[in-house]
Amino acid sequence: MRDSRHDVRAYEEVLQQLGEANSRRLIATPALVCDLGLLRSNIDRMAQLARDAHCTLRPHVKSHKSAYIARQQLNAGAVGLSFAKLGEAEAVVTELNADGDHSSLSVLLTSPLVGRQLAERAADLATRCDLIVVVDHCDGVDELEAAALATDTTIAVLCDVDVGLGRTGVVGPAEALAVAERVSVATRLRFKGVQGYGGHLQHITGREHRRAATISSTTRLRIAIDALESAGFIVAIRSGGGTGTMGLDVEIGVLNELQTGSYVFMDREYSDALGDDPEGRFAQSLTLVTTVISANHDGYVTVDAGLKSMATDAGVPLVVGHEATATYQFFGDEQGMVTCDPHHPFHRGERLELVPPHCDPTVDRYDVIWLVHDDVVVDVIDVTARGRSQ
Ligand SMILES: Cc1ncc(COP(=O)(O)O)c(C=O)c1O
Repeated sequence: MRDSRHDVRAYEEVLQQLGEANSRRLIATPALVCDLGLLRSNIDRMAQLARDAHCTLRPHVKSHKSAYIARQQLNAGAVGLSFAKLGEAEAVVTELNADGDHSSLSVLLTSPLVGRQLAERAADLATRCDLIVVVDHCDGVDELEAAALATDTTIAVLCDVDVGLGRTGVVGPAEALAVAERVSVATRLRFKGVQGYGGHLQHITGREHRRAATISSTTRLRIAIDALESAGFIVAIRSGGGTGTMGLDVEIGVLNELQTGSYVFMDREYSDALGDDPEGRFAQSLTLVTTVISANHDGYVTVDAGLKSMATDAGVPLVVGHEATATYQFFGDEQGMVTCDPHHPFHRGERLELVPPHCDPTVDRYDVIWLVHDDVVVDVIDVTARGRSQ
């Protein structure tokens, strides 16, 4: 397979100057840069918050897709990892297993799988880690059981409960019971609990509004848990939560496991929504470096980061250090427009750093992330599961 990074002379040049002053200037743009100190403090802070709340932490790898960052999260005390897609989990588990025995690594797939092929891949993955899969339909239980039997392995199952997002999950307690009962008659599956993820809650502005909506959503999960427990099921794992609600989730007390993801990097969308709320007190560790490629007009310059350089679902990025005076606008597939203070114009060749509007899908557009400390490039890490969307 072609590895485009090694075609780029600049990539090699930066590698040769790792640890040297001003090496950050050598990174070819557009590129993702992450402040290593801020990344580590975000990882440690979330681990501490989970410990203080007596919750386990199972960070969501969808945000960074990086085996390196997953390893840091595990070292900081995470009980395991969450993945949206089987392909992401396969890539990261393979990478983690390459540097030691991680067969006891606990891996949760947070999206239901459909069909024989995916069930067989899940059963294969279960031979390389301790696998938990969410299910929201009895047919999904049957597919996993058949694959686990054929592979002679065991898979743990959480019932995915729809807490109001409407994306996946059983819609009520009767359906939750039906799934749990189907799991209980399977010979190769183990019922372990529930997942309730409120994606619709994470970016509600205003902590009181977010709290009210989270309480109401969590009631749906509580009702499903009560029904399962009344029927004799042990609901050991109650997994869910995201960066925007985790402080509220631990106050409400129904979840005992947090799946937060974005906190490692943060983004403009989260900083807009969370402001100074406790949930927002993670540092913006990730930026997108871009270069001014044309500066021939008054009032604005053109940079080399456009629609292809970042996810656009959450609007425009912020220009770091110029938040009050400069604004970014998309200016084509490969270009952006940055307006500037006419008294302090940006110049051809100048580098600007942008706060990505939405971190997860932006990261998926890059092969690597450069780890930096001030102007020094400390390391470069692979986006291990880039593009692994199946
Ligand atoms: C199922 C699930 N859990 C957890 C998360 C993590 O949320 P956040 O990135 O807001 O922390 C996500 C993000 O989309 C998700 O889909």
